[in-house]
Amino acid sequence: MKNRDTFSSQIGIVAASAGSAIGLGNIWRFPYMAGKNGGSAFIIIYLVAIILMGYPLVYTEFAMGRRAKTNAVDTFGIIGGKKTWNSVGFLAVLTVFLISTFYMMITGWVIYYFYHSLTGGLYHISPSTDSVTYFKSVFTHMSSSMGIPLIFSMIAIYITALINSIGIKEGVEKYSKIMMPVLLVLFIILIGYSTTLPGFSQSMTFLFKPDFSVVTPAVIIGAIGQAFFSLSLGMGALITYGSYISKTENIRKIAKQVTFADTAIALFSGLLIFPAVFTYNLEPTAGPSLIFISLPQVFLKMPGGRWFSVLFFLLVIVAAITSLVSMLEILITYTIEKTNWTRKTSTWVIVFLTTIGGAINIAGEGPLSFVQIGGRTIFDWLDYLTNNITIPLVAVLTAILAGWVWKNVHLNKELEIGGTPSTMLDHQFNSILKWLIPPTIIILMIALILGIEA
Ligand code: TRP
Repeated sequence: MKNRDTFSSQIGIVAASAGSAIGLGNIWRFPYMAGKNGGSAFIIIYLVAIILMGYPLVYTEFAMGRRAKTNAVDTFGIIGGKKTWNSVGFLAVLTVFLISTFYMMITGWVIYYFYHSLTGGLYHISPSTDSVTYFKSVFTHMSSSMGIPLIFSMIAIYITALINSIGIKEGVEKYSKIMMPVLLVLFIILIGYSTTLPGFSQSMTFLFKPDFSVVTPAVIIGAIGQAFFSLSLGMGALITYGSYISKTENIRKIAKQVTFADTAIALFSGLLIFPAVFTYNLEPTAGPSLIFISLPQVFLKMPGGRWFSVLFFLLVIVAAITSLVSMLEILITYTIEKTNWTRKTSTWVIVFLTTIGGAINIAGEGPLSFVQIGGRTIFDWLDYLTNNITIPLVAVLTAILAGWVWKNVHLNKELEIGGTPSTMLDHQFNSILKWLIPPTIIILMIALILGIEA
């Protein structure tokens, strides 16, 4: 086997993995999912899911990756001792491919909004025009066309590919170490401003005072799915990064830091977005268009809002690009190891394929939006299928593989390399993989398939 690249430092691994985890899932998806599903009740379930299911799967994926030292597909076969396990890895890689096709579309939308905030064009609105109608039409005009979103999403994927084509240490790691501090600084500036808005305390209530009457199986699986999506679990992302982690690193420690960073950013994103939403009397339940239709109305009304808008969309771009980098890396590592092509060739082949997928999503929102199955566009279907079905499925099978087939002794052995001896608590977390994750998710998935709706 060729010499594999490795991450050079713990801080680099944490930056790249937190970069993977922190993305549109935190800033765009988490606030609207919470908004739509009753706010704090959803958040509590989400937090429980992060601690009891997310964290153990994060270190398990890292450990599997480092142990097998190969792409996400073959890792499953190596850990499971049978080639048939590769099919689970294949499902993970297929899932990440599907996600990357709509992720690039949304990142393209964000770049479009950034660009038009910067030029000021987004806020050129005559005083007599109703701002709701105006921003709805801006969004519809953009998302229903073909050329503009395609160009902007291609910009997103090309920036990403330039980073990936360099390699792990000099590309992914180096750029993550630059982008994550930028992200943090932008975030702190924006949060600081948000806390001064009158709607701040109302959002605290909305986000942190639970109402359990709205909880259904669909809300629970939505929260678990969100936890997995946000931590980039069930898609081979952390397995792939794990395969580039050296034996001197403490995986449990890295897993804790990544889980914490991702969760903190999701919660703070709520505190970034909702004060503005409440201050200007908008609906917190707006859905995917929350940051594209509701927030610009807020930016329009607040003093200095245009610059807030520039910083906000820049923040989202940085977050989304580091996630796209990790998605492409899964596909690139797999391609390199299956074909023996160079990293450069593999990168551009993957870019070509994702761009086709991206174009299909874009067409599905635009010129072909009449092609709907069961009232859902192509993007809606992909989002639904991946988050509710394939991601939980891969996560369950990963837990079963690690807990029942690979077994705790071997998992622990890998975790102790570069780390510290396992404590009682560590052992208890491992048993979650065996006893808690599989039954919980299987029951919820059955409930969902039987159509117990929200
Ligand atoms: N975790 C990312 C976010 O929160 C999204 C994501 C989903 C992802 N699947 C992934 C990132 C796979 C990298 C790899 O936005």
